[in-house]
Amino acid sequence: MKREVWASRVGLVFAAAGNAVGLGNLLRFPSKVALYGGGAFMLPYFVALFLLGIPLMVLEWVMGRYAGAKGHGSMTGIMGSLFDNAHWARVLGSLGVAIPFLIACYYIYIESWTLGFAVLSLLGQMPEPVESPDPKTAMEPYVKFFNDYTAPSKLAIFFLLVTLGINWLVLQRGVVKGIELTAKFGIPALLLMGIFLGVVSLSIRGGKGLEGLLYIYTPDFSKVWDPQVWLEASGQIFFTLSLGMGAIATYASYVKEKEDVLKAGLWTAGINEFVEVVIGASIAIPAAFAMFGAMAVPELAKEGIFRLGFMSMPAVLMALPLGWLLSAVWFFLLFIAALTSSLALMQPLVSLFEDEMRWSHSTAVGVSILMLTAGALLSAFLPGFVDEVDFWAGTLMLVFFALVEIVVFVWVFGVHRFHHELTRDVFLKVPKGVVYFFAVVSPLFLLVLLYQWGVVKLPQVLANKDVNIILARLFVLATLVLMAFFAVKSRKRYLSGPHL
Ligand code: PHE
Repeated sequence: MKREVWASRVGLVFAAAGNAVGLGNLLRFPSKVALYGGGAFMLPYFVALFLLGIPLMVLEWVMGRYAGAKGHGSMTGIMGSLFDNAHWARVLGSLGVAIPFLIACYYIYIESWTLGFAVLSLLGQMPEPVESPDPKTAMEPYVKFFNDYTAPSKLAIFFLLVTLGINWLVLQRGVVKGIELTAKFGIPALLLMGIFLGVVSLSIRGGKGLEGLLYIYTPDFSKVWDPQVWLEASGQIFFTLSLGMGAIATYASYVKEKEDVLKAGLWTAGINEFVEVVIGASIAIPAAFAMFGAMAVPELAKEGIFRLGFMSMPAVLMALPLGWLLSAVWFFLLFIAALTSSLALMQPLVSLFEDEMRWSHSTAVGVSILMLTAGALLSAFLPGFVDEVDFWAGTLMLVFFALVEIVVFVWVFGVHRFHHELTRDVFLKVPKGVVYFFAVVSPLFLLVLLYQWGVVKLPQVLANKDVNIILARLFVLATLVLMAFFAVKSRKRYLSGPHL
């Protein structure tokens, strides 16, 4: 069984950009910026981008290429391949399959809302706008609409099944004909729609939206000593760049043997940041600023991450000429961004089943989608599931796993060997000193974050003993155990399978 390889350089970069660009850029980023004080958020954000984001991005690309050549694409196999497929390495690596899968369980549900809202906008089914300078009044119809929809309504479940079906179809078609093709159409469309909506938002009411952009980019040092802001800004970097969970490494495992992974990594980070700090910054916050004024925006953000995207945005867009169309463009934009990311969240699991368990492609995809369906239904029906799983998988575990990645790939594997891999067939020979620098600074940074999350935040989270929340935690635990089981179980199968 030969592993697939990305068909072209452009396709590979678009696929990786699709992986990174997602709801994180267009919804999570503006909400976090608004919540943590606009300009005050951006300094920690950029520090985290350069000290954690870019180094980890390059590291995952390098290790993905290395292990892909040996037939591994999931972190289970990638970590195993460095240590003679030792059990401990495979089990540790299996976290890098569990984390993206857990995120996919709620991500896909939110993705399905974007599809539902896009279709409903096109069909003229969104509520009529209410003209009012008061954000509460103007947003009321959309708040109600959102709450009814996500109750969940039958319609929400219908669109969830459709979304699962679309993901199944694309994954089933494989890396080149499925993921790469989707990204080749999706990313250019996403850029066009994003730039268009950015221009619309900034020009609302004769350019009042620009104030929103200024709010984000006016430097503000008042919160430099607030650990919470650092935590959130670094968390955003991980989430938006798809780091600390093996999702990038899995895509990197499908490159040609001599692919320039340094270039590919820098392109991925570059496109993602463009869509985040330029396009993402120009839509939801400026639109809310123009319509509701400066005071309203942080207030909106306090009411949760979906406020800006699913309630304030339709309230603003529907009040403009051809509002239904603008609203449809917004939600389709979100849908494409989300789709190309949910594929990336699932591919590690597919790769585990294919490369390590040696299942056929159809079986690998089929079982993955069945597991995802179970998780997605829990997201829909179990109150509190989305936030709880987001804390464990989307916040805490990925900081831990990023630390594991650096320790294992750089320290245990060896700086010398890592440096050799890093400088093989790439356009720029990174000096070894740079590797040493990051091998020390990034883990220290991560340790501080881990301390904050683990010691300061964890007890607060654990204090919640609601039955539904306990069930959500059990789901997380069961997933970890299951992935560890696959890691152990697949070792023999891998070793006895045909070798490349
Ligand atoms: N980076 C994606 C986003 O910004 C989320 C994601 C995380 C996708 C991990 C794949 C893997 O929405």
